[in-house]
Amino acid sequence: MKIQISTLLPGLMVILSLLGGASQAAATATVDVYKSPTCGCCDKWVDHMRDHGFTVKTHDVGNKEIRKKSGIADSLGSCHTALVNGYAIEGHVPAPDILRLLKEKPKAVGLSVPDMPHGTPGMEGARSDPYNVLLIKERGEERKDTTIYNRYDPYAKKVKQQAEHSQPDQKPENSSVMRLK
Ligand code: CU
Ligand code: CU
Repeated sequence: MKIQISTLLPGLMVILSLLGGASQAAATATVDVYKSPTCGCCDKWVDHMRDHGFTVKTHDVGNKEIRKKSGIADSLGSCHTALVNGYAIEGHVPAPDILRLLKEKPKAVGLSVPDMPHGTPGMEGARSDPYNVLLIKERGEERKDTTIYNRYDPYAKKVKQQAEHSQPDQKPENSSVMRLK
Protein backbone atom coordinates (compact mmCIF):
# COMPACT_ATOMS: atom_id res chain seq x y z
CA MET A 1 0.00 0.00 0.00
CA LYS A 2 1.26 3.44 -0.93
CA ILE A 3 1.14 6.05 1.78
CA GLN A 4 -0.05 9.36 0.47
CA ILE A 5 2.68 11.69 1.76
CA SER A 6 0.71 14.71 0.62
CA THR A 7 -2.18 13.83 2.93
CA LEU A 8 0.12 13.21 5.90
CA LEU A 9 2.26 16.27 5.35
CA PRO A 10 0.13 19.01 6.94
CA GLY A 11 -0.29 17.02 10.16
CA LEU A 12 3.38 16.10 10.15
CA MET A 13 4.41 19.74 9.80
CA VAL A 14 2.30 20.71 12.81
CA ILE A 15 3.87 17.96 14.91
CA LEU A 16 7.38 18.90 13.80
CA SER A 17 6.87 22.58 14.58
CA LEU A 18 5.47 21.73 18.02
CA LEU A 19 8.46 19.51 18.76
CA GLY A 20 10.79 22.18 17.40
CA GLY A 21 9.47 24.75 19.87
CA ALA A 22 10.38 22.66 22.89
CA SER A 23 13.71 21.31 21.68
CA GLN A 24 14.82 24.71 20.41
CA ALA A 25 14.78 26.07 23.96
CA ALA A 26 17.15 23.25 24.92
CA ALA A 27 19.28 23.36 21.80
CA THR A 28 20.08 27.05 22.31
CA ALA A 29 20.65 26.71 26.05
CA THR A 30 24.06 25.98 27.52
CA VAL A 31 23.97 24.72 31.09
CA ASP A 32 26.92 25.36 33.38
CA VAL A 33 27.00 22.68 36.07
CA TYR A 34 29.02 23.20 39.25
CA LYS A 35 29.66 19.91 41.01
CA SER A 36 32.16 17.81 42.88
CA PRO A 37 34.58 15.84 40.66
CA THR A 38 33.73 12.61 42.49
CA CYS A 39 29.93 12.82 42.44
CA GLY A 40 28.44 9.97 40.38
CA CYS A 41 24.85 11.13 40.67
CA CYS A 42 25.84 14.57 39.35
CA ASP A 43 27.30 12.93 36.23
CA LYS A 44 24.11 10.96 35.75
CA TRP A 45 22.06 14.17 35.96
CA VAL A 46 24.38 15.77 33.39
CA ASP A 47 23.69 12.79 31.07
CA HIS A 48 19.95 13.28 31.67
CA MET A 49 20.25 16.94 30.61
CA ARG A 50 22.26 16.03 27.48
CA ASP A 51 19.66 13.39 26.62
CA HIS A 52 17.09 16.22 26.61
CA GLY A 53 19.11 18.30 24.15
CA PHE A 54 20.96 20.64 26.51
CA THR A 55 24.59 21.56 25.94
CA VAL A 56 26.32 21.02 29.28
CA LYS A 57 29.61 22.45 30.55
CA THR A 58 30.78 20.95 33.82
CA HIS A 59 32.89 22.71 36.45
CA ASP A 60 34.37 20.31 39.00
CA VAL A 61 34.83 22.90 41.74
CA GLY A 62 31.96 22.05 44.10
CA ASN A 63 28.74 24.08 44.29
CA LYS A 64 28.66 25.80 47.69
CA GLU A 65 30.14 29.03 46.40
CA ILE A 66 28.00 29.30 43.26
CA ARG A 67 24.87 28.36 45.23
CA LYS A 68 25.44 31.25 47.62
CA LYS A 69 26.28 33.62 44.76
CA SER A 70 23.09 32.57 42.94
CA GLY A 71 20.94 33.47 45.96
CA ILE A 72 19.88 29.93 46.82
CA ALA A 73 19.43 29.35 50.56
CA ASP A 74 21.21 26.40 52.19
CA SER A 75 17.80 24.94 53.10
CA LEU A 76 17.26 24.39 49.35
CA GLY A 77 20.71 22.91 48.78
CA SER A 78 21.68 19.76 46.92
CA CYS A 79 24.78 18.18 45.36
CA HIS A 80 25.13 20.40 42.29
CA THR A 81 24.11 23.85 41.03
CA ALA A 82 23.49 24.67 37.38
CA LEU A 83 23.16 28.01 35.61
CA VAL A 84 21.06 28.34 32.45
CA ASN A 85 19.67 31.44 30.71
CA GLY A 86 19.95 33.53 33.88
CA TYR A 87 18.30 30.91 36.11
CA ALA A 88 19.88 28.78 38.82
CA ILE A 89 18.93 25.11 39.05
CA GLU A 90 19.75 23.33 42.32
CA GLY A 91 19.93 19.56 42.49
CA HIS A 92 18.26 16.76 40.55
CA VAL A 93 15.59 18.80 38.77
CA PRO A 94 13.99 16.91 35.82
CA ALA A 95 14.83 18.41 32.40
CA PRO A 96 11.15 18.84 31.37
CA ASP A 97 10.65 21.24 34.30
CA ILE A 98 13.68 23.26 33.19
CA LEU A 99 12.35 23.38 29.62
CA ARG A 100 9.05 24.65 30.99
CA LEU A 101 10.88 27.30 33.04
CA LEU A 102 12.81 28.49 29.98
CA LYS A 103 9.58 28.64 27.98
CA GLU A 104 7.45 30.40 30.61
CA LYS A 105 10.29 32.69 31.78
CA PRO A 106 8.83 33.60 35.21
CA LYS A 107 10.53 36.29 37.30
CA ALA A 108 12.44 33.94 39.58
CA VAL A 109 15.85 32.86 40.84
CA GLY A 110 15.29 29.31 39.58
CA LEU A 111 14.27 25.81 40.59
CA SER A 112 15.37 23.40 43.29
CA VAL A 113 14.90 19.79 44.30
CA PRO A 114 16.47 20.02 47.78
CA ASP A 115 18.66 17.18 49.07
CA MET A 116 18.80 14.12 46.80
CA PRO A 117 15.47 12.28 46.74
CA HIS A 118 15.50 8.67 45.47
CA GLY A 119 13.97 8.38 42.01
CA THR A 120 14.96 11.83 40.72
CA PRO A 121 16.90 12.00 37.40
CA GLY A 122 20.40 10.76 38.27
CA MET A 123 19.16 9.09 41.47
CA GLU A 124 17.33 6.18 39.90
CA GLY A 125 17.41 2.87 41.73
CA ALA A 126 15.31 0.34 43.57
CA ARG A 127 13.61 3.06 45.56
CA SER A 128 11.50 6.01 44.36
CA ASP A 129 10.17 8.62 46.76
CA PRO A 130 7.71 11.44 46.10
CA TYR A 131 9.36 14.85 45.67
CA ASN A 132 8.58 18.43 44.72
CA VAL A 133 10.30 20.75 42.26
CA LEU A 134 10.35 24.13 44.01
CA LEU A 135 10.25 27.55 42.36
CA ILE A 136 12.50 30.08 44.10
CA LYS A 137 11.06 33.53 43.48
CA GLU A 138 13.40 35.72 45.54
CA ARG A 139 17.09 35.56 46.35
CA GLY A 140 17.70 33.99 49.75
CA GLU A 141 14.16 32.60 49.96
CA GLU A 142 13.90 29.76 52.47
CA ARG A 143 12.55 26.34 51.55
CA LYS A 144 9.26 26.90 53.37
CA ASP A 145 8.57 30.08 51.37
CA THR A 146 9.02 28.56 47.91
CA THR A 147 6.24 27.61 45.50
CA ILE A 148 5.66 24.04 44.31
CA TYR A 149 6.40 24.09 40.57
CA ASN A 150 5.81 20.39 39.98
CA ARG A 151 5.22 17.27 42.04
CA TYR A 152 6.31 13.72 41.36
CA ASP A 153 4.56 10.92 43.22
CA PRO A 154 5.49 7.36 42.24
CA TYR A 155 2.99 5.95 44.75
CA ALA A 156 0.09 7.71 43.05
CA LYS A 157 1.21 6.19 39.72
CA LYS A 158 1.54 2.70 41.20
CA VAL A 159 -1.94 2.81 42.65
CA LYS A 160 -3.27 3.93 39.28
CA GLN A 161 -1.38 1.22 37.38
CA GLN A 162 -2.61 -1.49 39.73
CA ALA A 163 -6.15 -0.33 39.18
CA GLU A 164 -5.73 -0.26 35.39
CA HIS A 165 -4.07 -3.65 34.95
CA SER A 166 -6.28 -5.97 36.91
CA GLN A 167 -3.58 -8.65 37.36
CA PRO A 168 -3.96 -10.54 34.06
CA ASP A 169 -0.80 -12.60 34.73
CA GLN A 170 -1.89 -13.93 38.08
CA LYS A 171 -2.55 -17.66 38.28
CA PRO A 172 -6.21 -18.39 38.80
CA GLU A 173 -5.68 -20.19 42.13
CA ASN A 174 -8.38 -18.19 43.79
CA SER A 175 -10.47 -18.02 40.67
CA SER A 176 -13.65 -18.77 42.53
CA VAL A 177 -13.02 -15.74 44.70
CA MET A 178 -11.70 -13.45 41.98
CA ARG A 179 -14.32 -14.02 39.31
CA LEU A 180 -17.10 -11.66 39.94
CA LYS A 181 -19.23 -12.71 36.97
CU1 CU B 1 23.14 14.11 43.60
CU1 CU C 1 24.62 16.27 41.79
